[in-house]
Amino acid sequence: MTLSIRNLDAALGAEVSGIDVSGPLPKAAIDAIHDAWRERLVVVFHGQKLSDPQLIAFSGNFGELDPPGPNPYGEPFLKEHPEINVISNVKENGKPIGNLGDGEAVWHADMTYVDVPPKAALLHALEVPPPEAGGNTHFANMFMAYEALPADLKKAAGGKVAVHDASRNSAGMLRKGYREITDVRETVGAHHPLVRTDPRTGRKALFLGRRPNAYVPGLELQESEALLDALWDHATQPRFAMRHEWKVGDLLMWNNLSVLHRRDPFDPRTRRVMHRSQIKGDERIA
Ligand code: SIN
Repeated sequence: MTLSIRNLDAALGAEVSGIDVSGPLPKAAIDAIHDAWRERLVVVFHGQKLSDPQLIAFSGNFGELDPPGPNPYGEPFLKEHPEINVISNVKENGKPIGNLGDGEAVWHADMTYVDVPPKAALLHALEVPPPEAGGNTHFANMFMAYEALPADLKKAAGGKVAVHDASRNSAGMLRKGYREITDVRETVGAHHPLVRTDPRTGRKALFLGRRPNAYVPGLELQESEALLDALWDHATQPRFAMRHEWKVGDLLMWNNLSVLHRRDPFDPRTRRVMHRSQIKGDERIA
């Protein structure tokens, strides 16, 4: 089998076939995957059977692993592999084995509430609900969203920063150690520009992180809400997005600084188990 890369018929995404990522790979293959990830922002592999050490080893081809942020339960889900996050609704002996439950995970980028957010995330499907039960994941291209912004919004976003809430995860659960935010002007988390310039290409992208509890310092509350609502409405339009319907063995790798993603809710009577790694970022957003 030879490696082949096919762009998906969407605003982003490429499917890589003809490769088994469970073992060491030639540099040419890593480079080709890396290029697809830079250009198409989401890379999709099917039929991958990976143990946790194999997921860690494959992820390590793209940089140092970044441990997950604090979860609602205050301890890593996999004690022997704390660098792996478990995304799951399954409970064993009444205790969740993973994060985010079965509800919607709203549009977000991962861990943008830290100063240097991870540049990539890899999500490997171990158990998935049947297609009719939900749980699809959507990604949106923030380069395209920026380039298509109406001139007035482009001007309004330019030079402004927003605070990215650290207190809740994308399923709305309060992380251990954080307090409820009652006034977004007091949101705790990193401040990043609303527009990021890719340091390699100079291309600009919207950098929104997450909508709940976001605030643009320096603006009146109502102005901040109106600007953020307008940017979010624009950025999450289907024309900038792709949808992934999961099968066991799928592995997705996304460009965390250039896309937003969200996960549909799914039938709580079904099981969904995903293992996730993240690659450390190496840039302050500017
Ligand atoms: C996530 O937001 O990282 C989870 C995505 C998913 O569950 O599909």
